[in-house]
Amino acid sequence: MFDFARMRDELADHYDLAPDPALASKMSDIYETMDRVVNPVDWARHAPYVAAINKLKNEKNAVILAHNYMTPEIYHGVSDFFGDSLQLAIEATKAEEDIIVQCGVHFMAETSKILNPAKTVLIPDVEAGCSLAESITAEGIAEMRAKYPGAPVVSYVNTTAEVKAASDICCTSSNAAAIVRALPDKTIIMTPDQYLAQNVANEVPEKNVVWWEGSCIVHEQYTAQDIRDFREWHPTTRIITHPECPPDVVAESDFSGSTSGIITYVRDEMPEHAMLVTECSMASNIADELPEVDFVGPCNMCPYMKKITLEKILWSLHAGEQEVQVDPEVAKKARLAVERMIDMSRELGI
Ligand code: 13P
Ligand code: SF4
Repeated sequence: MFDFARMRDELADHYDLAPDPALASKMSDIYETMDRVVNPVDWARHAPYVAAINKLKNEKNAVILAHNYMTPEIYHGVSDFFGDSLQLAIEATKAEEDIIVQCGVHFMAETSKILNPAKTVLIPDVEAGCSLAESITAEGIAEMRAKYPGAPVVSYVNTTAEVKAASDICCTSSNAAAIVRALPDKTIIMTPDQYLAQNVANEVPEKNVVWWEGSCIVHEQYTAQDIRDFREWHPTTRIITHPECPPDVVAESDFSGSTSGIITYVRDEMPEHAMLVTECSMASNIADELPEVDFVGPCNMCPYMKKITLEKILWSLHAGEQEVQVDPEVAKKARLAVERMIDMSRELGI
């Protein structure tokens, strides 16, 4: 269990973290990137943390990589790079700093460690998991191989290092269909997300895609009826889904793509109204950049992603705790699967 009391006592001894309206107004250049979604009172609360993190980051020679689902004060306030899972993995290979602070979930931090093992990789809360990563183990991969002999295993990056090590190649939501299409085999095992696999199967009908029955607790909550009802009520809204949604939900949408694919689509299309059928921070993070777009409709919060807060980022940098380690033998095998994905994505122009 995360020790909040120890963290708060120690931070209070070293930093002045009381809400500070004067500091907040001095940092107005940062605030301008999120002032439509973060109110001034909250910014006065966040500013001391943002200032302390950015100072410590330079002193400790650290880089902060943030997933698109981070809250706006993390995304715009302290991150050096933000993106989807594929972009974060590629960025991790390039990091030259001594420390990578992964603002995202545990499998993302493990992927950074696998790809850049010489670096210290910190995750602000080691308990930031993922329902997909928790749904399968290396034994599950062996079970699928026994059921479909000879078929290659394509595992979503939302998996542990052990599962990656037991797989032939990884994929993310931005390259899954292209990778499955490019593999020479007819039958392809996809793990652990049944819905991503079913969406890929629809996109690549020439393949026989078989899947593990995992799912994302955020995206599985949407139903096709919700989308139809919303469209009837608000017909001019562009409905955009993540491919972790069930296929009947994706079928009702105007576009489906990775988190960065969704952002690019909204930037390019500039719809008057847009509903992002995914995690709540996505719309918040682009609201200031795209004031012409009215983001409407429901969103679901990822409880794992939301474990990452400014306070825990400061603590992990300060204390150097919550370091991610991957057994070197496991990392070696997992690296092959992740690097195959990165190389294949490059060849396919993704
Ligand atoms: P992306 O690769 O699209 O960013 O997705 C990661 C994720 O966990 C979405 O739920
Ligand atoms: Fe995992 Fe779903 Fe959260 Fe993404 S949104 S980290 S897939 S639980």
